[in-house]
Amino acid sequence: MKVLFIGDVVGGPGRRGLKAAMPGLRERHQPDLTIVNGENSAGGMGITAKTAAALFEAGADVITTGNHVYRHREAYGFLDEAERVIRPANYPHANPGRGHLVLEVGGMRVGVINLSGAIGLQVARSPFVEVDNILERIEADCVLVDFHAEVTSEKVAMGWHLDGRVGAVLGTHTHVPTADARVLPGGTAYISDVGMTGSRTSVLGVKPEQVLEMMITQMPVKFETAEEDVWVMGVAVEINQQGLADSIEQVMLPAPESP
Ligand SMILES: [Fe+2]
Ligand SMILES: [Fe+2]
Repeated sequence: MKVLFIGDVVGGPGRRGLKAAMPGLRERHQPDLTIVNGENSAGGMGITAKTAAALFEAGADVITTGNHVYRHREAYGFLDEAERVIRPANYPHANPGRGHLVLEVGGMRVGVINLSGAIGLQVARSPFVEVDNILERIEADCVLVDFHAEVTSEKVAMGWHLDGRVGAVLGTHTHVPTADARVLPGGTAYISDVGMTGSRTSVLGVKPEQVLEMMITQMPVKFETAEEDVWVMGVAVEINQQGLADSIEQVMLPAPESP
């Protein structure tokens, strides 16, 4: 089974870039399952039913999220109902949405778990304990984890924690791709961060001049999504019959001009 995993899609430019790049990505990687992190898909922060629909239309089978998931109140009902959209599992249980799902892909039961790091981000429970609890009760032949976390040490630690127990631990949230993609000795594909799908003429997807103004003046500044030079970033993972990874390949390409 081939899995295509795409990092945080930022706003309209990210959504359009992904849509334009998907035909080429499909041809090159022939994914059986495409997972897209959509936490920044609505106006650069958060997700709505509308932006989720656009990601599904572009080719996502599953949408994961992260710390911006509750930015748009209108999406809370949608998060409860949407079967293929998940949010970090270690948030308070009563919060809208769910933290993992299982779907059938080519005769394989594939579990997808979304987790949030605890360092520098707000969580209700340890991601390490949370994922152990889910793995104990999940009925799946292969499990893939989107670890949405700030700090590389916590991400690397999660890779070792889950090595040999899941097919992949794929980092998101920082929007900056890391160069450490590899299959760990136990058979788990790992990368600290896959990066984002959005403008490279930006600071993490936001217009650089606005972020600079905020950082220099230390005053609040309204952020807008940058639009130039959109790149699509992610990884392609080959999963074997044991539910572990044979390979992980970084995906990083400029989005073709949208039609
Ligand atoms: Fe993000
Ligand atoms: Fe995030």
